[in-house]
Amino acid sequence: MYLKTIHLRQFRNYQDQKVEFSAAKTILVGNNAQGKSNLLEAVELLATLRSHRMARDRDLVQEGEDIATINATLERQIGEIDLTLTLRRNARRSVALNGESVRRQMDFLGVLNAVQFSSLDLDLVRGGPEGRRNWLDTLLIQLEPVYAHILQQYHQVLRQRNAFLKKSQDSPPTNQHTEQLAIWDAQLATTGTRVIRRRDRAIQRLAPIAAAWHSSISGSTENLQIQYAPNVPVVPDHPEAVQPAFLAKIQQRALAELYRGTTLVGPHRDEIELSINQTPARQYGSQGQQRTLVLALKLAELQLIEEVVKEPPLLLLDDVLAELDPSRQNQLLDAIQDRFQTLITTTHLSSFDSQWLKSSQILFVKSGEISFPASLY
Ligand SMILES: Nc1ncnc2c1ncn2[C@@H]1O[C@H](COP(=O)(O)OP(=O)(O)OP(=O)(O)O)[C@@H](O)[C@H]1O
Ligand SMILES: [Mg+2]
Repeated sequence: MYLKTIHLRQFRNYQDQKVEFSAAKTILVGNNAQGKSNLLEAVELLATLRSHRMARDRDLVQEGEDIATINATLERQIGEIDLTLTLRRNARRSVALNGESVRRQMDFLGVLNAVQFSSLDLDLVRGGPEGRRNWLDTLLIQLEPVYAHILQQYHQVLRQRNAFLKKSQDSPPTNQHTEQLAIWDAQLATTGTRVIRRRDRAIQRLAPIAAAWHSSISGSTENLQIQYAPNVPVVPDHPEAVQPAFLAKIQQRALAELYRGTTLVGPHRDEIELSINQTPARQYGSQGQQRTLVLALKLAELQLIEEVVKEPPLLLLDDVLAELDPSRQNQLLDAIQDRFQTLITTTHLSSFDSQWLKSSQILFVKSGEISFPASLY
């Protein structure tokens, strides 16, 4: 797939900016705080309807305005598609395809696919489990857009069940309480099981691809293992066993849940374990090695999305290229070649290989405006 144009209106620090992408690689260069990451964030929003910066819609809309729009034309094998996301300061966002409004988010997701790689991704190794769950969920949304709906249903049940448990803390359990809780338990297990099974499947497919990349980048000296560690145990090859296990664990933890007034069982407490040579990657080795791991994860995401979607996704590299040493830079560039359309942000062009610069489109970003240099040389 190829992103031909993007048009930002009142989005972050962009007032009204149209960009035409004219090469497989685009380098956005500019000083700090000019709008480079904002542009990548706009593409990410079209792909996932999420921002890895966890921004709220009112942060995305330009200060002093009520509405922001992101509009793009994308070329896919089936033809050209026009995507529009409208964000509002005080109301719900809406989406449209080819000018027609789309009611269900999942019909919009999966049209544009993109893998985002920024320095924040290093937190995948160093940070807490929530970041890893978010990462996996964002990938799953692109692999199977229906997952966005599944996840939303789970979170809705979880919120309601939590509210119920919290309320019950103040009053002694009655029969009516037990019956009501049993209904929430069943819904939690049903919706949660769907989340668990999909996460399990995704990790099973991703892990060997990431391990292969990791071994190739590290020169076969390191063995990367990615393991799904669900809060409710999954028995290999027995997906039907998840739901009963879920309900059994809820029973086990019933007293603790009443006491704590919150749901202690379910995929909102899952972990994805990353280890190198049998040691948790967080403890293992240098920042450079952790960077290798994240690079392997990102390359695996690209490859898996391409396998599933049957078209190469976009790659958004936010400030990370300069952080990689020359050999890892080359590994990444070799893997991308011209197959994946890539948008790269940087503060300095000097960190790029000259061959690479020649074949790239270079755009200057300054205070929310993008200029197209007539010639660099
Ligand atoms: N809702 C908004 N309205 C107006 N301006 C905003 C809004 N949100 C962010 N900005 C501005 O956008 C700028 C940051 O843009 P961005 O994060 O894209 O910078 P960058 O070019 O990637 O910089 P760096 O090199 O530091 O990563 C800041 O000046 C910030 O004030
Ligand atoms: Mg930035």
